[in-house]
Amino acid sequence: MSNDNRLEINPLYRPHRMKLGVMAFNCSHGSTITTAEGGWQLNWPDTITVAQMADRAGLDVLLPVGRWRGYGGATNFNASTYETFTWASALGAATTQIGVFATVHVPLFHPVMAAKMAATVDHVTGGRFCLNVVCGWFKDEFEMFGAEWREHDRRYDYAEEWVRFVRRLWSADTEFDFDGKYFQSKRAWSEPKPLQRPCPPIMNAGGSPAGQHFATTVADMNFLILRNQDFAGGKAQIDALKNAARAAGRDVQVWIHVYVVCRDTQAEAERYLDYYVREKGDYTAVNNLLGIFGMQSATLDPKALEEFRFHFIAGHGGYPLVGTADQIVSKLDQLSRMGVDGCLISWVNYQEELKQWVDEVLPLMEQDGQRIARPAAGAALGK
Ligand SMILES: Cc1cc2nc3c(=O)[nH]c(=O)nc-3n(C[C@H](O)[C@H](O)[C@H](O)COP(=O)(O)O)c2cc1C
Repeated sequence: MSNDNRLEINPLYRPHRMKLGVMAFNCSHGSTITTAEGGWQLNWPDTITVAQMADRAGLDVLLPVGRWRGYGGATNFNASTYETFTWASALGAATTQIGVFATVHVPLFHPVMAAKMAATVDHVTGGRFCLNVVCGWFKDEFEMFGAEWREHDRRYDYAEEWVRFVRRLWSADTEFDFDGKYFQSKRAWSEPKPLQRPCPPIMNAGGSPAGQHFATTVADMNFLILRNQDFAGGKAQIDALKNAARAAGRDVQVWIHVYVVCRDTQAEAERYLDYYVREKGDYTAVNNLLGIFGMQSATLDPKALEEFRFHFIAGHGGYPLVGTADQIVSKLDQLSRMGVDGCLISWVNYQEELKQWVDEVLPLMEQDGQRIARPAAGAALGK
């Protein structure tokens, strides 16, 4: 029996040149901070519709955001959110082939609890589970829990120990005592083990030097915020990350978050973007978000944050894919050549625009060799 069965059972390891996921639809308004019509109103029937549409289309992952309170403004952006392990478990049971993430704020979940919840979802999904580890940057959330708010880089030190403890719980055949800096545990134990060996993949979106160190030495994949949107700059940023991982003897996938506006003409796409950002953007909410992000995260300097305002309203700071289906597919090709392994997508209107993606963009990606052709419904890829 192989020591690593993830290549066979987890959709994250499929041989697509550009993998695809749907992001943030466990939160009201998803990733767009706008009052434009058709925005994501969180409810379970629509959640199931989107998840099953992505599953049937052969997309690779569903990623929820771990969020505990909103940002105010007319939208009270992300105020209503489904908890991510329970969300992942339910969607795992309602889908057949797509990977399902939970997002865990490590200081808010004890490793013994998280290891078991993750193993449970891994069993529910037949080994399609992945874990997004976040250290936290929204202090008000921590205050709700009465949790300790550590200095930025210490949060990553804590996360490293947290992951080490969880991985041991996932793999240890016998009880063990854990005596760490942050956790002391007697006769630690967790059963069942996850189906995935050596253990479910872990992703992290750290952007600071401490975050990137964590991503390259601990995680299996990194969500990168592309600082430089020209080809050479983006490639250099990704090469640096992958090379640092290789130097640590590891292979790390790089994913980015993209926001998509796909229309019949570029002018139409840009007009709609302009409408939902400049005309209908919730500037109170975005200012609240940027204020918190700027003050409490080390990723972006204040000047860069200002430039990001537009992108935050448009898609939570993601990378823009705005234009016709053909233009989007050539942009995806460029991203792939830059070293991006996967894109997590958000739209204003998930139901309608995911359908459009499946009907119009996906076939072009297949024709372009970015993705292998879809199997018959229900069959697994990568076997
Ligand atoms: C694609 C993506 C997904 C993220 N998901 C979450 C999340 O669900 N919850 C959260 O609090 N932070 C989330 N973050 C924020 C990161 O975990 C991280 O805190 C942020 O990028 C700042 O990095 P730094 O702490 O290294 O400065 C996400 C970031 C990205 C790019």
